[in-house]
Amino acid sequence: MSQTWWRGAAIYQVYLRSFADGNGDGVGDLAGLRSRLPYLKDLGVDAIWLNPWYPSPMADGGYDVADYRDIEPVFGTLAEAEKFIAEAHELDIKVIIDVVPNHSSTESEWFKQALAGDPAARERFWFRDEPNDWQSIFGGSAWTQVADGQWYLHLFAPEQPDFNWENPEVHQEFEDVLRFWFDRGVDGVRIDSAALLFKSDTGFEDLDEVHDVYRRWREVSDEYDERILIGEVWLPDQERFARYLRPDELHTAFNFDFLACPWDPAELRRVIDLTLTTHTPVGAPPTWVLSNHDVTRPVTRYGRADTSFAHGGRLHGSPSDPELGYRRSRAAALLAMALPGSVYVYQGEELGLPEVEDLPDDLRQDPMYARSGGTNPGRDGCRIPLPWSGEEPPFGFGGDDPWLPQPESWRKLTAEAQRTDLDSMLNLYRTGLGLRRDLLGDGTLTWLELGPEVVAFTRDSGLVCVANLSTRAVPLPAGTVALSSGPLDDGLLPPDTTAWLTPPTR
Ligand code: NOJ
Repeated sequence: MSQTWWRGAAIYQVYLRSFADGNGDGVGDLAGLRSRLPYLKDLGVDAIWLNPWYPSPMADGGYDVADYRDIEPVFGTLAEAEKFIAEAHELDIKVIIDVVPNHSSTESEWFKQALAGDPAARERFWFRDEPNDWQSIFGGSAWTQVADGQWYLHLFAPEQPDFNWENPEVHQEFEDVLRFWFDRGVDGVRIDSAALLFKSDTGFEDLDEVHDVYRRWREVSDEYDERILIGEVWLPDQERFARYLRPDELHTAFNFDFLACPWDPAELRRVIDLTLTTHTPVGAPPTWVLSNHDVTRPVTRYGRADTSFAHGGRLHGSPSDPELGYRRSRAAALLAMALPGSVYVYQGEELGLPEVEDLPDDLRQDPMYARSGGTNPGRDGCRIPLPWSGEEPPFGFGGDDPWLPQPESWRKLTAEAQRTDLDSMLNLYRTGLGLRRDLLGDGTLTWLELGPEVVAFTRDSGLVCVANLSTRAVPLPAGTVALSSGPLDDGLLPPDTTAWLTPPTR
């Protein structure tokens, strides 16, 4: 198999609304992102994945897409998006966008035609005379009634009507959308809710027909040079998951088992092993993800007594030890970066931002909060605008009043404050990604047995990664420490610390 850029890439996730605000309206945008491209270059990422940037009423942060072939005016223009792609390419950074094929927006032309009563337009969605008992993933019924009495299906918010993938027009539309963006230089797409497209009486997850769609999409992407398809595929069964990665389907998919894994040595080893054994037969590189815009920030999750992913990681109100969470996040970052395959960094992870759990309820925007009747705090706490510089909010984000408020305490976490601090999280990521480029990425690993509470392996380049999840300091194998997530203790590796070693020269 040829070594191609995506197999070992470090991919940085940009949640555009919260990255950087170029025009001062309090919402991040393309102008802000373009101005910060040098920061991403300096950080050492190979690619940027942007959450949806299309025109959208923002009922679900842009995952309610009104027009798949344009840019949300709050973010910029199509011409600006093209400039951004060109500028990223000049810096040798690839651009991956989000495509949302499971559902649309109630503000899309197609849905408006459907609402107007056009029967052919209704066939592009799931309109029925009677709803069934399906519940929306955000809570409440998955069906909403329209004025003439029919009901339409929405697995997520009511503003996100599901497409009917039994309809060939829907297939044609998305093949065109892929070409539209590949023609504009986009290097890959992240496919939202990739396993949910088909529905039957028994359910809507992982129906076999979905693979025909991705085989066709692969043909489309193969018409271009090295464009990739990345699936958001949350499935409990790894064998079913790997089917999406067969050589004629998607290139990679997010590894949610790793993201959801508790900070526990046996569990980590099990998940890493399982990941490798399911990916190897299909020839796809694994991905390693610690966070994204849907889950609790690792600094907060790893600081809790229960680091598992119960309740989607959203155990708000359950205390978190910030120092412990921070130390473990550093250790987890070096572990993730050392594993074979590609690695994702969600914006702010490199700054060690915690989850903001004390947002006033009236500022919460995530539909998950409202639709759960307030029992689920939602995902706003991991989507707070980034702190760039200065001593007080908005910390150089832009404007005076960011769309979600930043905590005062983030003055210590700004990119500017961390740049000059050699021990900062930012510098750990910078150095780690730099070393990773030469010594890690795609390939295999060989486990090292250093005790039940130590996760250790050697990579193809000879680099050794040792993560100590025990409660006492442990000796390191022979070699030179190239990087460690915290200071060593008299040559020993302290608890909740990861070190990378280059082998002794013979
Ligand atoms: C997964 C996305 O990551 C999430 O943010 C979104 O709410 C759902 N899919 C629905 O599009």
